[in-house]
Amino acid sequence: MTEPRLRIAVQKSGRLAERSLELITGAGLRAIRGANELLYRIENHPIDLLRVRDDDIPTFVDDNVAELGIVGYNVLKEHFPDKDLEEIIVMRLGFGKCTLKLAVPIGFDYQGPQSVAGKRIATSYPNILKAWLSDNGITADIVEMRGGVEVAPRMHIADAICDLVSTGTTLEVNNLKPVELVLKSEAVLIKAPHAPQPDLAHIYDMVVRRFDGVTKSTG
Ligand code: PRP
Ligand code: ZN
Ligand code: MG
Repeated sequence: MTEPRLRIAVQKSGRLAERSLELITGAGLRAIRGANELLYRIENHPIDLLRVRDDDIPTFVDDNVAELGIVGYNVLKEHFPDKDLEEIIVMRLGFGKCTLKLAVPIGFDYQGPQSVAGKRIATSYPNILKAWLSDNGITADIVEMRGGVEVAPRMHIADAICDLVSTGTTLEVNNLKPVELVLKSEAVLIKAPHAPQPDLAHIYDMVVRRFDGVTKSTG
């Protein structure tokens, strides 16, 4: 029988990928490329890293395919808009901090949420935007886009956007100004609904303890 291995879902490439691997390495887990790019093995512990698209991480973990996952709070919230996320989140990881903001063209006379009522808003976060609109008692047309949301106003397919802002450069080069903070985000460690199998409990606890230690020491 092969020894069971703990699985941690991480982003393959993108804004959290590098810092996620740094956290893993910082926790003393030595990652080496496995059978393919999708799988990395931890050579000094029975752990595998499932390297997937960030949007797939909540599903992988929720379906018990991976016991743990490292994902942006923004992605988690969009995937599970109505769940109590505190039941899923093991800890906040302190990196990958960014905000989801409503932004409008520089010349737009923004007077508050009412200013976008009935307008078209482009976003990759339709569920989060829907909740924000409803919290503000307004309705608007949501134009769903996978990426490159900031070009939508210039292309006349939207009047405003709701997208991630990190440095603010993308907004600036597209002549947009942020007007509302919709969501604050950072990387979080999430856990599967099922407890790990008994054989893996000690390794699971070790990973959580070490991640906690690294997170606290790096602030
Ligand atoms: C992200 C995000 C913003 C941009 C924000 O896009 O969707 O567009 O980065 O970063 P900034 O404030 O530092 O400019 P990403 O590069 O992931 O590309 P995508 O939107 O095409 O997926
Ligand atoms: Zn699911
Ligand atoms: Mg973008």
